[in-house]
Amino acid sequence: MALNRMDFEYIRDLVRERSAIVLDDDKEYLVELRLATIVQQEGFGSLSDFIAHLRAQPVELMQQRVVDLMTTNETYFFRDVFPFEALKTAILPELIEKRAATRRLRIWCAAASSGQEPFSVALLLKEHFPQLAGWQIDFVATDISHEMIERCKEGRFSQLEVNRGLPAMMLVKHFNKVGDHWVLKDDLRRMVDFRLMNLIGNWSLHGSWDIVMMRNVLIYFDLETKRRILGRVKSLLGPEGVLVLGSSESVLNVDRGFGQESMGRFMYYRVREAVPAPAGL
Ligand SMILES: C[S@@+](CC[C@H](N)C(=O)[O-])C[C@H]1O[C@@H](n2cnc3c(N)ncnc32)[C@H](O)[C@@H]1O
Repeated sequence: MALNRMDFEYIRDLVRERSAIVLDDDKEYLVELRLATIVQQEGFGSLSDFIAHLRAQPVELMQQRVVDLMTTNETYFFRDVFPFEALKTAILPELIEKRAATRRLRIWCAAASSGQEPFSVALLLKEHFPQLAGWQIDFVATDISHEMIERCKEGRFSQLEVNRGLPAMMLVKHFNKVGDHWVLKDDLRRMVDFRLMNLIGNWSLHGSWDIVMMRNVLIYFDLETKRRILGRVKSLLGPEGVLVLGSSESVLNVDRGFGQESMGRFMYYRVREAVPAPAGL
């Protein structure tokens, strides 16, 4: 049975309040599709019955499950290629030179999904930057989804997932075949500290960061939320720090505090130097 308007609005408001994800008015089908699992697993007769139950008993854990299910977790290894090429050939070499004195590099991947993105960066560091052995690498990857963070910690991928973007050489070198899945070897898995974190909640991150990857997540938020999040990112980025967004995302018309740099078709961002106020103001 199709979702009625009031039920859709209840789920839409719940998801927005808890995650800032905006579900457009034509997304009823998505709610029906994504919540079908809960209806089945919890033994409800219909989605309407489940929503009526949730309204009557808005239990935290169940609300969380709804939000988890409404997140879009599409990702793959070395997604879009260009950002990783730029990290390899320009961004990381430059940062490594600048951090030679402290021998410390800080990377935050802000929408980890099932782990392919942070692990792509970890593989890149391992394969191409042997000089980082002995450095302190603070590598944190976060996501709002409990299920995704649990998956990340396992570092376990299906054949289909490793077929998407992961070079065969890296697969055989850095993964073990366990049953019909591939599990990333411990040294790489341990490079990344996975944490549950809501971008509109408290950020359990301290100090300044060299690379912030916030790819393909701002697209789900409204302009005001994007502004607030990018404002917070600005205060976390060190003077040479770099912000990497998804290929369809930009700070243009969102936040003027970032300057854009490019490498071929790939754009990335740095915090603009504070412009001193004119004398007399
Ligand atoms: C499409 S995936 C992007 C994955 C990866 N960054 C990439 O580009 O391949 C979007 C991720 O953002 C997460 N997300 C959505 N809203 C969030 C929020 N408010 N706080 C933190 N993560 C959120 C989702 O759980 C999902 O895993």
